[in-house]
Parts: sequence; structure tokens; C-alpha cells
Amino acid sequence: MKHFISIADLSRAEAISVLDTAEHMAETQSRSIRKLPTLVGTTVVNLFMEDSTRTRISFEAAAKRLSADVINFSAKGSSLSKGESLKDTALTLQAMGADAVVVRSSSSGAAHLLAHAGWIDQPIVNAGDGAHEHPTQAMLDAFTLRRHLVGEDRLGADLAGRRIVIVGDVLHSRVARSNVLLLTLLGAEVTLVAPPALVPVGADIWPCEVLYDLDDALAAQPDAVMMLRVQRERMIGGGFFPTPGEYSRRFALTTDRAARLPEHTIVLHPGPMNRGFEIAGDVADGRRSVITEQVANGVSVRMAVLYHLLASTSEET
Ligand code: CP
Repeated sequence: MKHFISIADLSRAEAISVLDTAEHMAETQSRSIRKLPTLVGTTVVNLFMEDSTRTRISFEAAAKRLSADVINFSAKGSSLSKGESLKDTALTLQAMGADAVVVRSSSSGAAHLLAHAGWIDQPIVNAGDGAHEHPTQAMLDAFTLRRHLVGEDRLGADLAGRRIVIVGDVLHSRVARSNVLLLTLLGAEVTLVAPPALVPVGADIWPCEVLYDLDDALAAQPDAVMMLRVQRERMIGGGFFPTPGEYSRRFALTTDRAARLPEHTIVLHPGPMNRGFEIAGDVADGRRSVITEQVANGVSVRMAVLYHLLASTSEET
């Protein structure tokens, strides 16, 4: 693996290998081995041109726990806000000794451009690009699902036969796209649930089922329900749905709906959440919720991704 841009670039074996590496990383963390010497002498740059809490902090924690140096670079306060181009920003980062660049952008394709424009040679990690993909979020979701739905024998295992429902604003969701690709690559059966206006054009050829009624989807007794953040700033007044109240009534994971799920069913959300809108607060905090586990698992998964990109390269050379 040279870059980590899209789940579409991964084979099933590569995806499982990253998940297994993340298990080893998690084990070191649980044994309080807070720092591994793996990436001593390397520098990871976090280039965040769009706001983030979880992804930016967990990439920083992941790189530091592998003993890399970390440079955090955000668009606000940088020369990007004065109109400097992505190319010149990338050349500057390379000149400062970056060994890998983790990039978040509101523009779909930004990570791909950095990786393939020929400006710089360093590995690029996509930390979310527009409505396109968020591959490390999907990896940490798959990691969390495998821990809960496969259990002890999970090393080397996929998610064959597990049924995952993904609910909400699929249209604007890079998380949904990456998860559909990854979870189906791993053999899961994925159902998307959304109002018709929040389903992207072309989703009918995605490798999953699309439903428009949440209660029908939950009646099929899924193993996991992944709620998506409703990007209300794009929905309200944008003609996507009549009112927020109507959306919430039909598509929120309420206490009542969660109570009807099978005992073993878990609830995920990538964050940030609109509590009380797409998910009830007591469901987000309840016994089925693995939302804070997802955040913790994000560090192990991002350690694994950096390991695959940087440690294996330095071992080969
Ligand atoms: N899940 C996620 O990408 O969260 P942040 O925007 O806080 O990074």
C-alpha cells in the first residue's frame, strides 16, 4: 500500500490485514505500552482544511504512540487562507520533511489529487474528502463491528453474513460510502435507509439494499444499526425534507425503536452527533451504544494504517 485514499483501492485480504494489525496495536495499548518505537525518526503531517475533532486527534495520538513526530497544520491561520494553492502547500510540507500527509478537505478528490498529481512522493492518507470517502472511519467501524459480532476468533475473519443497517443522510455522507464499500467487501449484508431525497443518484447500483422506511429495516432484526449525522445545514431549506421534525419522527433511532431491536444488536454513530435529532440521547448513552468505543478504536486503526504505509516501507528499504 502506497497511499490510503479509498476503500475501493483495497482487496479483502488487505482490509483484513489492517484490521488484524489494529488488533495488535489495541493489545499494546491495553497493556499500557503507550509508545512503540516503530516510527522513530519519521514525521507525520496532519493537513486539516476542514474542521475535525475525532479524526485529527486520533491521527495525532496514533502517530505519537508509534513515536513519529507530528506537525498539525490547519487551514485557519495558514497561508491557505491567503489563497495559497494545494500544490504549494504540499511542496512546503515536503520541504519541511514530511514522511506522510494525512489530509482532510471539504473537496471530494483532494487526497487523490495530492497522491497522484506528482507534486510530492510521500504517502497520503485520506481523513475525509467532501462527500466522497472517509476510509479510516470505515476501518474503525469495521474493527468495532468485528469485535462485537465475531468475538474471540476474529483475527483473520471477515463479517460474512452480518447484517448492518446504515440510516440517515446518505447523500452527504462520506462515511456511508466508505462503509458500504468496506462492509460488503468483508461479506456483510448492508441496508441503507434514508428519505428518497437523501439517497445519492447511482446508489441503486451500490452493492447494498436501499429502503425508505426505518421501521421496516429494523423489523428485519439487524446485527448493527449505524446512524449518520444529518447535515442539517444542507438539508433544511434545501428541499431535502419537509421539516426537521418530520425527518426525526420517521428516521431517528428513538428509545422505542431501539427497544424493539434484538438483544445483541449494537448501535454506532461516527460523530459528531445531533443528540435528540437523529439519535435519542439515552440510546447514544445506552447499553447497545458502542460510540465511545468507536472513538477509542480509531486510534488503534490509525496506528495500523500508518504502520502499513510507513513501517513496511522503511523495512523494505
Ligand atoms: N467521525 C469524524 O470524522 O469526526 P470528526 O469530524 O470529529 O473528525
